[in-house]
Amino acid sequence: MAMLQVKNVSKVYEGKISYQALSGISLTMNEGDFVGIMGPSGSGKTTLLNMVSTIDSPSSGEVLLDGENPHKLSKNKLALFRRRELGFVFQNFNLLNTLTVKENIVLSLTLDGAKVKEMNEKAEKLAATLGIHAILNKRTYEISGGQAQRTAIARAMIHNPKLILADEPTGNLDSKSAKDVLETMEEIHRAKKATIMMVTHDALAASYCNRVIFIKDGILSQELRRSVSKEGFYQDILRTLSVLDQGELEKAH
Ligand SMILES: Nc1ncnc2c1ncn2[C@@H]1O[C@H](COP(=O)(O)OP(=O)(O)O)[C@@H](O)[C@H]1O
Ligand SMILES: [Mg+2]
Repeated sequence: MAMLQVKNVSKVYEGKISYQALSGISLTMNEGDFVGIMGPSGSGKTTLLNMVSTIDSPSSGEVLLDGENPHKLSKNKLALFRRRELGFVFQNFNLLNTLTVKENIVLSLTLDGAKVKEMNEKAEKLAATLGIHAILNKRTYEISGGQAQRTAIARAMIHNPKLILADEPTGNLDSKSAKDVLETMEEIHRAKKATIMMVTHDALAASYCNRVIFIKDGILSQELRRSVSKEGFYQDILRTLSVLDQGELEKAH
């Protein structure tokens, strides 16, 4: 059974003028997948991620993680589910500025009442893997954007979540820091067998994934699987984007 099943999910934002942000999206992810969700701004990427992460609920359709629908959990159980089974990485890092890097990384374990010694050991091991060991005792305002995002990745995976959800993780970074962060994602995918869904509008970022799903106007339009090198996959992604854009140009004429 697939680890994640998104079944015919639609989302309508109700309001004075209601807006259909997703229409009949279906996709599956297996354990160990590293899936990119690509699409232009406003295409519904974050909305889709929010349906999977239970931050928001679908208007119709369902989301199953290991066969269970987390949207059906009570409020308290849902909060625990998010903290234990999911890991989040956001564009603007979302670190707590009053805490050190290490304290940020172990936050979910602290909330679960883990032993300090055990937390420290885990944090140090993971930080070494992610190349941020030297900054563990720094405060978040003393570190670079790339280091902040690698800290956020460490925080997202310290508790070995089922699924890591990243929304434009390189969106606020210069190209060198973006590359460091993408290599970090690649490393946790490869060495730690992390399962990752990453939203991005950047073809280079998407080329680090093993599958890329394209959405447009809230509709799943295409899927690419990586069978070649990262460089070859990057070319495949660019080609697909240009074909999708071409369709858009023709519609406009
Ligand atoms: N809370 C909301 N209420 C109303 N409309 C929204 C809301 N969130 C997003 N939208 C709209 O839904 C569409 C998809 O948004 P989003 O999922 O954020 O796109 P993306 O992440 O691909 O840029 C956009 O047109 C956006 O304006
Ligand atoms: Mg978005």
